[in-house]
Amino acid sequence: MHIWIGGILSDTDTTGRTRATHVFLLLMLTQLFVMAAEANTQDFSALMILMQEWGIRPPSWVGSDPCAEGWEGIDCSNSRVTSIMLASRGLTGQLPSAIQLLSELEILNLSFNKGLTGPLPTSLGNLTKLVYLVLAGCSFSGAIPGTIGSLEQLFYLDLNNNRLSDQIPPSIGSLSNLNYLDLTGNKLNGYIPVSSGTTPGLDMLHNAEHFHLGGNLLSGKVPPELFTSKMVLKHLILDNNNLTGRIPSTIGNVQTLLTVRLDRNSLSGHVPSSLNNLSNMAELHLSNNKLTGPMPNLTGMDLLYYVDMSNNTFDVSDVPDWFSTLQSLTTLMMENTGLQGRVPQALFSFSNLQTVVLRNNHLNGLLDIGTIYSDQLQLIDLENNLILNLTQSGGSNYTLILLGNPICDKTNMEKKYCIVSRSDSSYSMPPSNCAPVACSSGEVLSPNCKCAHPFKATLVVLFVSFSNLGNFSYYTALQASLMQSFHSYNLPVDSVSVSYPTWSSSYYLQLMLEVFPSGEDRFNETGASALASVLSNQTLPRPDYFGPYIVEFYYGKSGGSNKALVIGAAVGGSALLILVALVGVYAFQHKRKAHEPWSRSIPLVRWPFITQKKQTWISNISGSVPQLKGARLFSFEELMKYTNCFSEANDIGSGGYGKVYLGILPAGQMVAIKRAKRESMQGGIEFKAEVELLSRVHHKNLVSLVGFCLEQDEQMLVYEYAPNGNLRDSLSDNFFVNFQLIKWENLKWETYPHQIP
Ligand SMILES: *[C@@H]1O[C@H](CO)[C@@H](O)[C@H](O)[C@H]1NC(C)=O
Ligand SMILES: *[C@@H]1O[C@H](CO)[C@@H](O)[C@H](O)[C@H]1NC(C)=O
Ligand SMILES: *[C@@H]1O[C@H](CO)[C@@H](O)[C@H](O)[C@H]1NC(C)=O
Ligand SMILES: *[C@@H]1O[C@H](CO)[C@@H](O)[C@H](O)[C@H]1NC(C)=O
Ligand SMILES: *[C@@H]1O[C@H](CO)[C@@H](O)[C@H](O)[C@H]1NC(C)=O
Ligand SMILES: *[C@@H]1O[C@H](CO)[C@@H](O)[C@H](O)[C@H]1NC(C)=O
Ligand SMILES: *[C@@H]1O[C@H](CO)[C@@H](O)[C@H](O)[C@H]1NC(C)=O
Ligand SMILES: *[C@@H]1O[C@H](CO)[C@@H](O)[C@H](O)[C@H]1NC(C)=O
Ligand SMILES: *[C@@H]1O[C@H](CO)[C@@H](O)[C@H](O)[C@H]1NC(C)=O
Ligand SMILES: *[C@@H]1O[C@H](CO)[C@@H](O)[C@H](O)[C@H]1NC(C)=O
Ligand SMILES: *[C@@H]1O[C@H](CO)[C@@H](O)[C@H](O)[C@H]1NC(C)=O
Repeated sequence: MHIWIGGILSDTDTTGRTRATHVFLLLMLTQLFVMAAEANTQDFSALMILMQEWGIRPPSWVGSDPCAEGWEGIDCSNSRVTSIMLASRGLTGQLPSAIQLLSELEILNLSFNKGLTGPLPTSLGNLTKLVYLVLAGCSFSGAIPGTIGSLEQLFYLDLNNNRLSDQIPPSIGSLSNLNYLDLTGNKLNGYIPVSSGTTPGLDMLHNAEHFHLGGNLLSGKVPPELFTSKMVLKHLILDNNNLTGRIPSTIGNVQTLLTVRLDRNSLSGHVPSSLNNLSNMAELHLSNNKLTGPMPNLTGMDLLYYVDMSNNTFDVSDVPDWFSTLQSLTTLMMENTGLQGRVPQALFSFSNLQTVVLRNNHLNGLLDIGTIYSDQLQLIDLENNLILNLTQSGGSNYTLILLGNPICDKTNMEKKYCIVSRSDSSYSMPPSNCAPVACSSGEVLSPNCKCAHPFKATLVVLFVSFSNLGNFSYYTALQASLMQSFHSYNLPVDSVSVSYPTWSSSYYLQLMLEVFPSGEDRFNETGASALASVLSNQTLPRPDYFGPYIVEFYYGKSGGSNKALVIGAAVGGSALLILVALVGVYAFQHKRKAHEPWSRSIPLVRWPFITQKKQTWISNISGSVPQLKGARLFSFEELMKYTNCFSEANDIGSGGYGKVYLGILPAGQMVAIKRAKRESMQGGIEFKAEVELLSRVHHKNLVSLVGFCLEQDEQMLVYEYAPNGNLRDSLSDNFFVNFQLIKWENLKWETYPHQIP
């Protein structure tokens, strides 16, 4: 079967023409479905539906075979579509149910299209070959469909930063191949599902290494059943939810855990002693809960870099032993935790130590920082304690804060350490070796001293192993590894700059990322999308210091300033706010008309039938019994009468398939009657299916079907025609002006040039 759609794809110069094509696209699709055509056609149809829904028209999407013709963003195997990668393309609209037609799909990656809204269709569950489902940073809402549990092959499920609500479907527990589960930054509520009886749950995910569920509204207990020794979980991220109850002692069963973030919930009770069974732990965040009982014993966590247990209500206790033994520590955050006694000098000698925050405790006596202390030490914050005296070597290179301690009472008031100078957002760019150059507006000087429009984004890193934001060697390492990734994907990148590190209020590290193009002075849309896509791959190699990150950016107008970023970072009062805040700026000036951009070339016109109500139509139409709603069956004689025996005067157009006649029904309604030539006729079933579909479509922008005639030697469709309407605005008018017709026999499109007088 051959389909020619060049006419459709190049026909966008007026809205009206585009609309007219819809009618025919629709006709064509009907035909395709009912003819149960070969698989390739099915994929083609599905892509046409997606294209219409999302309002995109990629220039490379021509011809009728997405696989043979190298459609951008589409990959195939054995002539079937296996991958759709359209990250950051400015797509708008919903995810049509028709996605299920792409039954060989393995990768669906639509991240960072803020305009994608509406619910995730239940038909996603029919894409049983899916391995990657990546819809991060869109605006999908509603519940995650339970059918997602049918995706047996799924390895990677990333829905972070949408507006998904309702509960986490227990069926996710059936995804036995799942490695990566990221639902961060949604509005998911209810309990964390665990299996019981025949109901699956997250405890069954024995191959998952990542549970990223932070920044939601999850409530109830962290279920003890969640943790089993069969798990290989590395990252358990549940921060910024509304979880209550105790931390279950079963957590000690999951020996593989590297990072645990349970901070910013309402967890209470004692921290289980099994925690120090987790000897691989690198980052532990328990802060801002209601934990009680003895100070947790972290002895044995010899690889721990970052610990934050601030703002809990532990029993007043002496400084624990592990302050003197956890040699890997970079960051110790124990604000407001009931600590008393002396801070051991050994702590400061840990060679990686960067930050010690012990504000609002009862630490007393002599603070001995000693002469041998970490050369990375940046901050010792002991505000509001009971420190009486200080031993410190000269020439210290870190900030010490002792305000609110007795030592600052009288004689030392003028000392630097008695005056607060906490300023952890003052880092900016690494020193530049460039000669001062004035770049033109919107351009930025790259690390290689060239002016260009960078691709900008914000990286929100879920956890890091360091806290000295002023040490640029971390960012240099990240830059290098990003460069390496971009080059391995053959992207034309000149240089990468990572700068403006700040902490969010939930201690996520936020970084500004600028990627500079090589050759051109800006990335074109293809390049920008590819960058976005690479960044969305969480398994991208990166230095060990950086945990997983979330990327935020959008297609902005040009000239976005760094101010936007800084403001975004500063105002985010809660993690959720920060995660959702659009702080990235994509300085990318589109010259839309000039070089046929990717998105928006088709004005936003919806397929009327792919609304939620009508989403079932595709499944209904295959193998259905025609049900004619409101479409009338005309006899040949009747139509003959209404058209003056199909007189030439009534002939308003013709095409390869046959002719169109103007007719007037007895009630005075004007109709256009499309009459098939004998050789163009389709089988009765196909014809009925077309009629059935058309009869269900009622939309102000579409000509609706009034009726049809199906007799031995005749097939006719009767459409509404409004002669008295405003011709300019009336679709019916455009409909005939640019009448493109299906040749029913071989589905070839033809343009019909007749104009109604
Ligand atoms: C999609 O899946 C549902 C149940 O999961 C099934 O009933 C339906 O037949 C499937 N549709 C197609 C087209 O395979
Ligand atoms: C958190 O849970 C408490 C009680 O369990 C409830 O009162 C509160 O409204 C919840 N907060 C949110 C944001 O859901
Ligand atoms: C520590 O881990 C081992 C191995 O999984 C387990 O057998 C043991 O019960 C755990 N201990 C605690 C206290 O959880
Ligand atoms: C902390 O745990 C270690 C090892 O599990 C143990 O030897 C030590 O006695 C514990 N310390 C306290 C104060 O319980
Ligand atoms: C502890 O709580 C105070 C007051 O709510 C807050 O300002 C501070 O940032 C919290 N500390 C940490 C480390 O989360
Ligand atoms: C910066 O970090 C690197 C990597 O951890 C470390 O080797 C170096 O000593 C640090 N430099 C300073 C000045 O802290
Ligand atoms: C502080 O320590 C110094 C030297 O160790 C000592 O001379 C001084 O008396 C101490 N001051 C107080 C108030 O303890
Ligand atoms: C303080 O740090 C800066 C930069 O990290 C370094 O150049 C300087 O030598 C350090 N000073 C001391 C006294 O360690
Ligand atoms: C976009 O940029 C890439 C690399 O610079 C180039 O190969 C490609 O042809 C460009 N595409 C368009 C449509 O200009
Ligand atoms: C998303 O698609 C892009 C290609 O467009 C790919 O490079 C990237 O790795 C994908 N992301 C994930 C998480 O698979
Ligand atoms: C993501 O990156 C990893 C490591 O570079 C690579 O193996 C994997 O294929 C990428 N995923 C996709 C979908 O591109």
